[in-house]
Amino acid sequence: MPAKGAQVDTDVIVVGGGVIGTAAAWRAARLGRTVTLIDPGDRDPVTGDQASLVAAGMLGPVSESVFGERDLLNLNLHAVRRFPAFNAELEQAAGQSTGLRTEGTLSVAYDSDDLAALDRLTDFRHSLGLKAERLNARECRKLEPFLTPGVTGGVLAAGDLSVDNRRYLAALRVAARAAGVRFVRGSVDSVDRVPGHAAGIRVRAGGGPNPTAHGVESHRDQYAGQVVIAAGHGTSRINGLPDQVRRAIRPVKGQVLRLRHPKGLPPILTRTVRAVVQGRDIYLVPRENGELVVGATQEERGDRNVTAGAVHDLLRDAITAAPAVSELIFAEASAGLRPGTSDNGPIVGVISENGSAECEFPPTGHPRNGLVIAAGHFRNGILLSAVTADAVTALLGDRPPDEVWKPFSPRRFM
Ligand code: GLY
Repeated sequence: MPAKGAQVDTDVIVVGGGVIGTAAAWRAARLGRTVTLIDPGDRDPVTGDQASLVAAGMLGPVSESVFGERDLLNLNLHAVRRFPAFNAELEQAAGQSTGLRTEGTLSVAYDSDDLAALDRLTDFRHSLGLKAERLNARECRKLEPFLTPGVTGGVLAAGDLSVDNRRYLAALRVAARAAGVRFVRGSVDSVDRVPGHAAGIRVRAGGGPNPTAHGVESHRDQYAGQVVIAAGHGTSRINGLPDQVRRAIRPVKGQVLRLRHPKGLPPILTRTVRAVVQGRDIYLVPRENGELVVGATQEERGDRNVTAGAVHDLLRDAITAAPAVSELIFAEASAGLRPGTSDNGPIVGVISENGSAECEFPPTGHPRNGLVIAAGHFRNGILLSAVTADAVTALLGDRPPDEVWKPFSPRRFM
C-alpha cells in the first residue's frame, strides 16, 4: 500500500483493455478493489490496435497443440476446463451472451502429405493422453456436409470450444463497468515506483490526444498501490519494466477475414474446421449469426496492413476446404498483432520492487511488490483470459496462482 498521505487514485491500475486486462480488472473489482483501466480506447478492429478484436475466438488446446510445448499445453488444458464456468458468470454479470460453442474442432487434410502430417500430430496428441478421434473422409463430410469431396480424412477434437471474441470482450467491459471499474482513455509510457510514495506506483501518460468519450475519462499520470501491465505486444514499449522482459515480447501479425451468409442463415459449418491445405494451416470458425471467421497468417511483422496476397491465400485455401465459402459475403479483412514471446508462452507474475532484474513467483512481500505483468499470450489470449484473471487476482492478493503457471513467470527471461 502507498505511504500514508501519498497521492493514490485507485487501488489497482490495469494497463490494457483487451480481454486479458479487462478480465483481470473485472475480477479485481469484484473482489472489492477500486480499479482503473487505461487503454487507448479505439475499439474499431481496423483502426484500433487490439488483438482481442481481430482474434477468431478458438478455445482449442487440443487442435492447437504442437510438438514440444508441453507446459503451454498443460496451461491451455487448464484454461479450457475453466472457461465455461467463468463465461457463465460473465454472461450473468453482463446480461448478454458471448456465443460460446461446444461442438469441437474438426481438423481435415486434402492430400496424402497433409494427411500424414495430421497423423503424426494425432499420434503425438494421443501419446499425451489427449482425446482426438480419427475420422475417414465420409465421416468428416457427414459432420460437415459443406466440406469439399476432396477431403482425405480428419481428426475430431470434441473438447475444443470457441467463443465470439468481440461479444466476449463487450461482455467483459459491461461486467467490469457494472463492478465499478473506471475506464480511462490514454496510452502509457512508463511505470515507476515513486520516491516518497513508498510502494505507490505511477503510471505515466503517453503523448498524443486523448479525447474523452462516453463515460471514459482522459488520461493523466495516475498513482496506485498495485499495477497490472496487460498491454499485449505494446508491453514491450513500456519503460520501467525489466529490459529482458520487454525484449521477450514482439508483435506477430495475423490477418483474418470475416465472411457472412447472404441470407442471414446459419453458418455453413457447425464447428471450427482446421485445414492443412498443401502445407498451409487455416481455420474456419463459425458463429451462430452466420459469420465465418477465416484465419490466419502468422508474420514476423509489426504493421497492421491488410495485404492482397494474404486475403487471396486465405480465400483460396478456405474455398478449397469448403467450396461454398465462395458464395459468402466478404464482410471484413483485418490484421492484429499477437503478443508473441521468445518461447511462445505467456508472461504472468510479479516484478519485484528491488531492481528491475528480479522477478518472483510466487510473490513475496506483498503489498510492496505491487507490479504484476500479464502479457505475451501470443495465439492463446482469448483461451487464457479467464485463468489469467484468476492468476492476476491471486497475485494481487499475495496468493500463488495455480501451479500450472509456474513455467510462465517473467523470471525465466532474467
Ligand atoms: N489462435 C489462433 C491464432 O493466433 O491465429
